[in-house]
Parts: sequence; structure tokens; C-alpha cells
Amino acid sequence: MAKAPTTFTCTACGAAHQKWAGRCDACGAWNTIREEAPLSAAPAGKSLGAARGRALPLSDLSSTEPEPPRAASGMAELDRVLGGGLVPASAILVGGDPGIGKSTLLLQAAASFARTGLSCIYISGEEAGAQIRMRARRLGLAEAPVKLATETNLRDILTTLDAERPALAIVDSIQTMWADMVDSAPGSVAQVRAAAHELTAFAKRRGSAVILVGHVTKEGQIAGPRVVEHMVDTVLYFEGERGHPFRILRAVKNRFGPADEIGVFEMTGAGLAEVTNPSALFLSQRGEPAPGTAVFAGIEGTRPVLTEIQALVAPSPLGTPRRTVVGLDAGRLSTTLAVLEARCGIPFAGLDVFLNVAGGLRVTEPAADLAVAAALLSAREDVALPKDCVVFGEISLSGALRPVGQTENRLKEARKLGFSTAIAPANSKLGAPTGMAVRQMPDLAAFVGDMFGAG
Ligand code: TYD
Ligand code: MG
Repeated sequence: MAKAPTTFTCTACGAAHQKWAGRCDACGAWNTIREEAPLSAAPAGKSLGAARGRALPLSDLSSTEPEPPRAASGMAELDRVLGGGLVPASAILVGGDPGIGKSTLLLQAAASFARTGLSCIYISGEEAGAQIRMRARRLGLAEAPVKLATETNLRDILTTLDAERPALAIVDSIQTMWADMVDSAPGSVAQVRAAAHELTAFAKRRGSAVILVGHVTKEGQIAGPRVVEHMVDTVLYFEGERGHPFRILRAVKNRFGPADEIGVFEMTGAGLAEVTNPSALFLSQRGEPAPGTAVFAGIEGTRPVLTEIQALVAPSPLGTPRRTVVGLDAGRLSTTLAVLEARCGIPFAGLDVFLNVAGGLRVTEPAADLAVAAALLSAREDVALPKDCVVFGEISLSGALRPVGQTENRLKEARKLGFSTAIAPANSKLGAPTGMAVRQMPDLAAFVGDMFGAG
């Protein structure tokens, strides 16, 4: 019989390849393709069509069962990102860079969940029991009724979970788990998939909520969390800039709530502190307005968040000027620069451009376009924007400004934080709070003329 062909799998995204390559076509990652043991093929002549299966009971879409109650974790920011708390019988993946604070977050979540009176098991495959107890003591959580185990053998873990049936089980991390029925090393795509599959199946079988921790890996030595994203109900990423204390927990997929919701935390000496008013925090470092800064009134999930966009524009010694972006999409910066040049006659050729979101937040909303343009122009002209002014609006390729959603929420939040002017696209659905003047601009050229007396 012909030997089943060896397959090659990308450890970053899980894509299968016929042969080894330095770069994965599917996700673009370098050096992440590993050889996988072949899957055993169905014996010849025994296709599925030959033997008849059991007929499935079919039901209709209407349901008389009430929605299962969610269990609050006791951490308001985590509950918000989950869409209102933990759903029983669901699997949640929490991904993030090593050292960003996933274990800290989940130990705190485990403790506050256990303190609500529901049972919680924390299984670590990474740290020794003494290490975790020491951290718990330092965070003031030593008395919380969390049950702890340190183990990597999936079979033993499942036996324990099946016997205990906790309301919440946390497995830190999925890459350290080892399933003895899979013939490859821990951290390989096959192992990570098998462990995620078994733990998700446990959640559905026993009605527990299961949280899996996954390290994001750039080197591809172990499989990244993207390999299991499709298996779980909810995917959260824990992000932040090194050197910044702020951490953002972001929902990128949620079968039980809105995606794109964020929770904001601050890493302190005593663990993660929840930040209930992120706008105040992100703007707390702001003094007198300096040239090159603009305050963007954004929306993250269901909540308005104000952030400062910072730009620096300087003559470039290089043939190809630098475009360095932190916290925003580099593609959108290029587009905004091109629109400024083509529609307003303001060139950036020969100038280095650096763009940054203060506080380490990542802004993905197109509504940030106008704030980016404002910061760029302010930096280029060396003129500060008015102190009490927020900016938002999407820029289209024609140079027109497009209204964006949730204008009223943006304006309310800005007013709450002491701003009294907003620059917004024309035809925005306003509902401005009292004390807030809105200057509506039809296009970018009108904005440039109004702000900087040019164009
Ligand atoms: P950790 O939760 O171990 O990260 P991960 O599980 O994502 O790999 O967090 C590690 C970092 O957090 C470490 O660099 C120290 C820092 N930290 C604090 O600043 N304060 C604290 O109270 C704790 C527990 C950790
Ligand atoms: Mg950890």
C-alpha cells in the first residue's frame, strides 16, 4: 500500500502545505512551516457512503428554553468583553504575547470568580505550584477558594475535570498540554488542536466554561492561538506595548456578544487594576496642546474612548522618507498622506512621518482618519490645535469627509472630559450635548482652510 504523504503545516495559522517552504502563503509568516505526521487514511473501499449512519433528530429554530444565565466573573472589564459574563458550556481562548500578563489576569479572574461562590479550577502547565501560590499571595488572592493543579497530561486533566465539574476551568497554556493519543511533540499544531478539541468537548459535555490561554508566537517553534480560533466560541487577545502599563483585552470573535469590545487594565505592582474610565487615563499625560497632537473621539466596542494621536514630521535625510506607525494602520496613513497631497495640495515628499497613539492603544476605526490628518497637518505647520477640541471623521479618497457612527456618544464623552469643540464631517447625526460646539466640514480641504488658513 502506498505510504500516506507527509504533510506540512504552518504553526502560525494552521494552513496545510504540500511541501516545505520558508514562508507560509496563507498568513505570510516566515519559518513557521513544520512537518506533521500523516493522518491515517480511511481503508480502501470503506468510504462513508458504504455504511449507513443513524438518522439525526431534526428540530426547528424556535426555542422555548430560556437563555442560560451568565456567570459574572467578578471582574467588570472581563465581563464586559465577554458580552456580560461567562456563558456555561463555552470555550474561550485568551491569546497574547508571552509576558504580557495573561497568567496574572486569569489568576485574578479565577480568584474573583471563586469568591462569587462558584467552583473554579486553575490548571497550569507552565509554572510550579509554589510559584503560583507566591504570586497569589503577592496579589492578595491566597485566601480565594480556587483549586489549583500543575499538570500537562491532558488525559489526567480531563479525568479530574470530569470528576470535579467546575463552573470554570482555566488551562494555562494550551501549548504546554500533551495528549498521549497524538504522536507529536507538545506545542505542535496536532497537539494544540487535540488539546483544544478535547477541552472544548469537555465544556459542551459538562456545561462548564473553559478558558484556554494561548501564547502568540512569532518564531513558529510552537503553534500559535490562531490554530484553534475556529474551535472556540470566544477569542480574546490581551495586548499592550512593552514599557506601557496599559493592557487591552480585546474580543475578536464572540458567539455570545459583540466582537471588538475592549476591557482596559493597568499593570501595577499588585497585579492588574481595572480601568473604568479609559479616556481619562489615556489623556492623563496630556498637558498644554503641542503641535502634532490631536484628540480623537473614538468608539471601542460599545464604549467611547478618547485618545491622543501624535505625529512628528521632519525633513528626511533618506531617499525614501520613513513612515513609522504605532497603534494605527500603516496603510491608512499612506492613504491619508496621498489624499492630503492630491486633494489639498499639501505634499509630504521628502519628509519623515512618525505616527503614534498615546498610551499604547491600537485604533482600527476609519473614523480616526481626520484626527490623523489633523495631527499630521499640525506637526507639518508647527501649529497646535485648539486646546478644547476633539476630532473624528472618515476621509474618502475623493477628499470628502464621511459621517461616522455613534456621533452622539463621542460628543457626550468629549463633553464629559471637558472638551467644548468638535470637528466632525458634515451631515453627521448630531445630538450634541449642551456646551459642545460642532464644526461640520464637508471635505478635507475645508478642514485645512478652517484650521490652518491654507488649501
Ligand atoms: P504573566 O502573567 O506571567 O504573563 P504571561 O502569562 O502573559 O506570560 O505576567 C508577567 C509580567 O507581568 C511580568 O513581566 C511581571 C509583570 N507583573 C507585574 O508587573 N505586576 C504583578 O503584580 C505581576 C503578578 C506581574
Ligand atoms: Mg503565563
